[in-house]
Amino acid sequence: MPAPDDQRPTDLPRHVGIIMDGNGRWAAARSLPRLEGHRRGAERLIEIVDDCIDLGIGTLTVFAFSAENWKRPPEEISGLFKLGEWVLRAHLARLERRGVRLRVIGDLAAMPDFVRRPLEDAIAKTRDFTAFQLVVALNYGARQEIVAAARRLAEDVAAGRQDPAQVDWAALEARLQTAGLPDPDLIIRTSGEHRLSNFLLLQSAYAEIVFASVHWPDFTKDQLRLALAEYAKRERRFGMTPEQLQTPPPA
Ligand code: FPP
Repeated sequence: MPAPDDQRPTDLPRHVGIIMDGNGRWAAARSLPRLEGHRRGAERLIEIVDDCIDLGIGTLTVFAFSAENWKRPPEEISGLFKLGEWVLRAHLARLERRGVRLRVIGDLAAMPDFVRRPLEDAIAKTRDFTAFQLVVALNYGARQEIVAAARRLAEDVAAGRQDPAQVDWAALEARLQTAGLPDPDLIIRTSGEHRLSNFLLLQSAYAEIVFASVHWPDFTKDQLRLALAEYAKRERRFGMTPEQLQTPPPA
């Protein structure tokens, strides 16, 4: 959570999370195959990454494939993976030029080799870049992430590395896959659905949530600006009173 005395302008989020929903419905509305919706969604993602960099947003996390998405038809799953691999191959050089550090959260080990290997290479290649962080949630579920962190904590307690009396939020947070990332300030979900669907549940505790009615392939840079304008209007209180927020913190 950003400290209330954070010196950055408060009207620009430093971490945005996006649930890119509605590719299928976008395609169905045009009598196109679902994969065409995903392809147009991938194009949109590339534009939005560029725009976030230009705007000075430090971190973008996108929900590309949920742990629950394995329930989809196998052709759609393999089409999505091929698309993801293509996007990476086609755009990695540009991401590198722009100083983008790529990270993945989720169970990458369970992904097919043709997706996992290039992603691992890209993660290693971009490790030292600091201009922008692109975090791809792939085979990701917040509950799964929390369970894995709790398991690590339990193992550390059992091995005597962690005092159970000292288990606090920082101890759990350090074992989440997002360790080291700022919490998301803004979560955007497209396609008119009003839910978080197992995305960054703990990290979003104080996030502002903006729901856009358009499907993801129609989420243009203008739509992003509308979401940012909506965010800028919100008063973030982190549990404090409006009066406390007006008072500068003690030096
Ligand atoms: C949700 O639309 C979208 C996804 C499940 C996949 C998101 C993927 C992309 C935007 C393409 C980029 C791909 C990668 C791997 C980087 P939906 O299919 O749930 O749409 P619907 O709710 O209308 O059916």
